[in-house]
Amino acid sequence: MKRVLISIDDMNLKKINEYLSLAHKIEKIPDKEKISLLSGKILAALFFEPSTRTRLSFEAAMLRLGGSVIGFSETASTSVSKGETLQDTIYTVENYSDIIVIRHNREGAARVAAEISRVPVVNAGDGANQHPSQTLLDLYTIQKFFGSIDGLKVAFVGDLKYSRTVHSLVQALSKFEKIKFLLVSPESLRLPGHFKAQLVDQKHSCHETSDLAEAMSSCDVVYMTRIQRERFPDALEYEKVKDCFCINLEMVSHARKGMKILHPLPRVNEILPEVDSTPFAGYFEQVRNGLIMRQAIISSLL
Ligand code: NCD
Repeated sequence: MKRVLISIDDMNLKKINEYLSLAHKIEKIPDKEKISLLSGKILAALFFEPSTRTRLSFEAAMLRLGGSVIGFSETASTSVSKGETLQDTIYTVENYSDIIVIRHNREGAARVAAEISRVPVVNAGDGANQHPSQTLLDLYTIQKFFGSIDGLKVAFVGDLKYSRTVHSLVQALSKFEKIKFLLVSPESLRLPGHFKAQLVDQKHSCHETSDLAEAMSSCDVVYMTRIQRERFPDALEYEKVKDCFCINLEMVSHARKGMKILHPLPRVNEILPEVDSTPFAGYFEQVRNGLIMRQAIISSLL
């Protein structure tokens, strides 16, 4: 079996729990002990789409484990701009590195890379499809906040149609016990039908609404998302929904006790900065956990 992280669909609950346990272990190892774990290994970060956290946290994770990093953060300065295929890029980079982390605008691109690569491949986001390393760090964050993931009520808010972070996390949560899903979006950005069908098949409760206040007052986790402007075929459609949900201080005053707001970031205006210093804000904790989970992912695959 190839060592890859491409889609939550490929993983069972046991595998997910292994990653969560490994992250807990890695978090306890002092930095000065970790620094020799992957010395001599090279990670290639191939980012065909913009990124701040995902790329930098994978790179920082590798450096903290004592490895080195090569790669690109945009394609203009690479042979991709001359017309090189994804396949040829992979056939090249696999010679230079021990693990490849790839983000691409095309759905399925990471799967193609994994099928042909001789070294492990991690999907760092493929179009509107999947973002499994984000999901593992989201689960890790939820587990740290609540102790257990089973039985939680989780709201997904915003762009449920195009957000790959939502698609991956919905699939992952559906593998846990008795999760209650509240899907909050404008009519035009509803969660695609096949994800909803999976939730129903697995006997989770699932309710759709456009009411963010309901999510704030009734859920344990409110997972906010950015409206994915770059995925809209029609700019006018984006204009209609771009500011549909925004959490401010007044809204969190009605929140359920212990509720945590998560967001994969970047935020545009879904959460006002005035919310950041409240106990409800969990998104910068998520960022911190990203570095740990990505150390777990790299060390597990290598
Ligand atoms: C997300 C992504 O790229 O899908 N960002 C991230 O990796 N943390 C979310 C987004 O861009 O809205």
